[in-house]
Amino acid sequence: MTQPVRVAVVGLGFVGLPLALTYAMKGANVVGVDALPHVVDEINAAHSHHLESYQGKTLPEILKEQIEAKRFRATTSYEEAAAEVDHYIVTVGLPVHNGDPDLGPLKSCAQSLGSVLKKGDTIMIRSTVVPGTTEEVLKPILEEVSGLVAGVDFYLTYCSERIAEGRAFEEFIHMPLVLGGINEQSAKKGKELLSFISETDITISDIRVVETAKVIENIQRDVNIAMVQEFARFSEAFGIDTFELIKVANTHKRVNLLTPGPGVGGFCLPNALYYLQPKARELGVSLPILQQARMTNDAVPEVLIGMLEKALQQKGKTLAGSRVAVLGLAMKDFSNDDRVSPVHDIIKLLLAKRVEVRSYDPAVPTAYEHKQDSLEAAVRGADALILTAVQKQFADVNWDEVAAQMADSAILFDTKNRIPLNSVSKATVVRI
Ligand SMILES: NC(=O)c1ccc[n+]([C@@H]2O[C@H](COP(=O)([O-])OP(=O)(O)OC[C@H]3O[C@@H](n4cnc5c(N)ncnc54)[C@H](O)[C@@H]3O)[C@@H](O)[C@H]2O)c1
Repeated sequence: MTQPVRVAVVGLGFVGLPLALTYAMKGANVVGVDALPHVVDEINAAHSHHLESYQGKTLPEILKEQIEAKRFRATTSYEEAAAEVDHYIVTVGLPVHNGDPDLGPLKSCAQSLGSVLKKGDTIMIRSTVVPGTTEEVLKPILEEVSGLVAGVDFYLTYCSERIAEGRAFEEFIHMPLVLGGINEQSAKKGKELLSFISETDITISDIRVVETAKVIENIQRDVNIAMVQEFARFSEAFGIDTFELIKVANTHKRVNLLTPGPGVGGFCLPNALYYLQPKARELGVSLPILQQARMTNDAVPEVLIGMLEKALQQKGKTLAGSRVAVLGLAMKDFSNDDRVSPVHDIIKLLLAKRVEVRSYDPAVPTAYEHKQDSLEAAVRGADALILTAVQKQFADVNWDEVAAQMADSAILFDTKNRIPLNSVSKATVVRI
């Protein structure tokens, strides 16, 4: 594509905002659309809590540059965007409530898009969806509201989003992509749109294959981690180090074990099974291994607290009435995203057991009653600390000095393999 594309990115969250800026940096004219006025106002003021960076610039710096260059601005108005663009990329998510995906935001987005769609426009869905959603749910809404015919009057594609938070800019350009169109012409248009920023392979396949592949890519990680949790319980009982075990097993070229951690979090991995399940139910397909893996991962916070309780008892202490510092609220290391973080489950369980919890995470902006402003405030006088997510501020921590600020006979519970076993003289390190 030689002319700069004119593209609206719909949904300006963890994916949408850096994606919109990637297009803008490549010279596209980009309008960002989000339903939330405060998100739009914040973005137009070049403020963002996102921790992404690219070529030495932080996301807010890139945002400011692209706004000033008039290549990007945000709005809540689909009409305003439609006046300027002929391509739409949708990154609105499907929240999961009690195991059921909520298609409400995506359907509402399709309604809004349908009402502004023009002949010749291209729509690309990049949200992770229940397989079949693009053709079975979104296409009918778009056609009905717009009065246009998909594949003839406008083009409709699905391209799975594979970026990892923290590496978004780099991965939008270099992560191999898979794309499906509702017809050949749609796929061709979609590939052109992707090629404007992508410098890597774009595989075209059946749209349902692409939707399903995205979901199973995430589920295989969920299952891998559940399996490793079982290996971890085995190694603890056997008295061998889980992380050493994984490192050794991974020297085999065809083995790739992930690490156990405090449970599986984030918007992507825990939700993946819940996106596959409705379609599997409709098709009469059972998913026992996948469901067991999800349950195993969901139960990890409870398992960890049982282990902590036992460790405290060995020191002559009880869990109830103890003080516990929880370090890291994010759903994964070096992230500021604490949505669907297993750490919240750990804290909830601790509070229910009458533990005094003091958490600390310098990267997560969300305020919580238990959250402290410094590591010292979180660990002072604590009977135990649990390292649940690593942030860059934890890299140079002297764990022996931390232990010295804690209560006598304290326990450092390390779910991240970051506290060297022999580095602490004043407390016991338990690596899990
Ligand atoms: N976060 C990741 O690392 C990641 C990675 C791969 C794929 N994904 C997938 O990408 C999608 C987006 O994820 P995210 O983390 O950016 O979500 P997010 O919640 O951070 O952002 C979604 C944005 O969409 C907006 N929105 C909701 N309804 C809307 C509507 N009708 N019109 C316009 N805007 C609307 C919300 O206000 C929000 O700002 C999800 O489907 C997710 O599963 C995310």
